[in-house]
Amino acid sequence: MSIVATEFDVVTGGAGFIGSHLSLALLRRGRKVRILDNFSTGTRENLEQIKKEHPDQCEVYEQDIRELSELKKLFQNAGTIYHQAAITSVQKSVEDPLGCNSVNVEGTLKVLVAAKDAGVQKVVFASSTAVYGDSERLPKREEMKPEPISPYAVTKYVGELYCKIFSDIHRLPTLALRYFNVFGPKQDPKSEYAAVVPRFISRTLAGESPIIYGDGEQSRDFIFVQDVVAANLLAAASDVQGTHLNVACGQAFTVNEVARIINEILDLDLEPIYESARLGEVRRSQADISQASKLIAFKPKCSLRNGLSQTVEWFQKKNEEPRKGSL
Ligand SMILES: NC(=O)c1ccc[n+]([C@@H]2O[C@H](COP(=O)([O-])OP(=O)(O)OC[C@H]3O[C@@H](n4cnc5c(N)ncnc54)[C@H](O)[C@@H]3O)[C@@H](O)[C@H]2O)c1
Repeated sequence: MSIVATEFDVVTGGAGFIGSHLSLALLRRGRKVRILDNFSTGTRENLEQIKKEHPDQCEVYEQDIRELSELKKLFQNAGTIYHQAAITSVQKSVEDPLGCNSVNVEGTLKVLVAAKDAGVQKVVFASSTAVYGDSERLPKREEMKPEPISPYAVTKYVGELYCKIFSDIHRLPTLALRYFNVFGPKQDPKSEYAAVVPRFISRTLAGESPIIYGDGEQSRDFIFVQDVVAANLLAAASDVQGTHLNVACGQAFTVNEVARIINEILDLDLEPIYESARLGEVRRSQADISQASKLIAFKPKCSLRNGLSQTVEWFQKKNEEPRKGSL
């Protein structure tokens, strides 16, 4: 099916964890959505609900964001570009900095060039808390000096700078959102680089101890994926541009606490297994979210425990699916 050239939004990385939730939320608000994804980490499975609920409102293109001429065509008549596509793993960026730079810097630059040429309304860019690095100063405020400690963090910072420059020079409205630790349904626990929440949940559900890299006292500001979706929608609707905003809950929890809460939700008592810490990972992280609250009226709604309960429930249902199918 094809979207008639009217109002639609583009989600790059729309087959990924956050991009698929964002696409569904846009569709449920009556927007048409064009998803661009090369399916390197995103999956067709993530798009199943979208296909079921909105078969005629969403186009999916298997498309690499580094193909500028294609982007230019696909952005014609678009409203907002929600740019989520990226190499998202810190570890992978350490192993393959060139590959990470190619997608996250060159790809983002091409998204901006195509967006400028198409005259879109706004580009909302998925940046990261990683930009702040490992300084001891907490909470992280937007005006703090970026101190990236991994190639991934460098690429996200460069992406933010390009966004700002395109706003300043080309009058292309852009806004970068520095997501902190996002979690929720559909996050992949199987990847070698998987985030802590889906890894813990899938192991705990299998009755296996969660594996913690380091001593588990590293802290993170965890945010439920629906709150990140809400931040994107607010960012697109606001006049704020040419800057970056924290998207987090404003509260820190240690990795040990996350393991404990998951145990409590499942009424289990599995002792974590501790392994050596990973390269390029920050020790402590917590956001100040007053800027996002003031400028785009962002207010996270979901507590860590509530978000973890919803995520556990989703994983439990997913685990039941093959059994249902084999009846
Ligand atoms: N999940 C988090 O906690 C978190 C935190 C901070 C920032 N972010 C950022 O949020 C965005 C979404 O992350 P996610 O967690 O949903 O990860 P994800 O890996 O699930 O999604 C990324 C998507 O981008 C696609 N992609 C990768 N390279 C591409 C390319 N060259 N062309 C087209 N598509 C490509 C992947 O196939 C995938 O669908 C990323 O930009 C990430 O850096 C995520």
